[in-house]
Amino acid sequence: MPRERLSVVVTRRLPEVVETRLSELFDVRLRDDDTPMTRDELAAAMRTCDVLVPTLTDKIDAGLLAQAGERLRLIANYGAGVDHIDVATARQRGVLVSNTPGVLTDDTADMTMALILAVTRRIPEGLAVMQKNEWTGWAPTALLGGRVGGRRLGILGMGRIGQAVARRASAFGMQIHYHNRRRLRPEIEESLEATYWESLDQMIARMDVISVNCPSTPSTFHLMNARRLKLMKPSGVLVNTSRGEVIDENALTRMIRSGEIAGAGLDVYEHGTQVNPRLRELPNVVLLPHMGSATLEGRIEMGEKVIINIKTFADGHRPPDQVVPAML
Ligand code: DGY
Repeated sequence: MPRERLSVVVTRRLPEVVETRLSELFDVRLRDDDTPMTRDELAAAMRTCDVLVPTLTDKIDAGLLAQAGERLRLIANYGAGVDHIDVATARQRGVLVSNTPGVLTDDTADMTMALILAVTRRIPEGLAVMQKNEWTGWAPTALLGGRVGGRRLGILGMGRIGQAVARRASAFGMQIHYHNRRRLRPEIEESLEATYWESLDQMIARMDVISVNCPSTPSTFHLMNARRLKLMKPSGVLVNTSRGEVIDENALTRMIRSGEIAGAGLDVYEHGTQVNPRLRELPNVVLLPHMGSATLEGRIEMGEKVIINIKTFADGHRPPDQVVPAML
C-alpha cells in the first residue's frame, strides 16, 4: 500500500519551482495571495497539517503551539532566522524545527557591502540628484564621501554571514575586527586577518563601520543600546542586515539626527514595517525593505533546503537543519 503523503501547509507564496516541487512530493496547501496568514489562519493550519512551512512573517509562539493538532510534527521554516518561532516550546511539545542556513550567506553579505558603500559613498544622494534632474556637472567638491579602503570594520557576530562580510570587506581594503560569543579558531581568524575583541564596548569605540551580523535572541536584544551607540565615533557608520531588535532604533535615530553618529545602512527594523518615520528623513541613512537575501537563486535554494528537511523527516530521520534551543 502506498504511504500516505505528508500534509504540508506553506504560509506564503514561494518561487514557482519550489511550490511545484513541494506539490509533487507532498499533499501541500499553497497560499493564493502573498499576504501573511492571520493568527486564526495559522492556528487552523497547525491543527490539521503534519508539517508547517512558515516564514519570518509568521509568529509561532507558545499560544499558537498550544492550539496545534497532534499531527503537527515539523515546522520547516523557510528562512535562516528562527527568532519568530518559540523553538523551546515546540521541542517540549515534540515538534521539530528546521531552518535554511548557509544558502543566504553570500547574498546577505553582498547586501551588507552594498549598504556600507551606499552610506559611505552617498549613493542614494547621487541617485536623487539624477532622478530630480538636478545634476549640473562634475565638481571637485560635490557629494564627497569617504574611502572604505583602510577603514576599520567591526563585525558584531562572526558566524557564516559575518565571515562572508569579512572576506568581502577585506577585498575592499578594510581592516577586519570582530566580537563574537566565541572566539574563532586561530586558523580561521588568521585566514580572515581578523582582530578579535572580547570587549564589545572597546571594539565599538575604535571602529569606523560597525556591521551587525548576529541573530536576534534574548541576549542580543538591544545589544546596540543607547549606551553602546554613544561609544561609536561621531564619524562612525552602523549597518544592520540581521535583525532590527539588536539595535535600539529610537536611540540610533536620535544620535544620527544630533550628529553623534555619521550614518546608517539598515535592511531590518526593530518593529518590522513600523520604521521610525524620522529615520526616513535623514539623507545619511540608507533604508532597505529587508531584502538582504532577496535573490531568486537564494530563494530557490531555501526551498530546496526546506524540501530536504521535510523529506528526511518523512523518511524517519532528523532533518539535517534541525534547530535545537541550545544553538540559539
Ligand atoms: C532569514 O531567512 O532569516 C533572513 O532574514 C531572510 O532574509
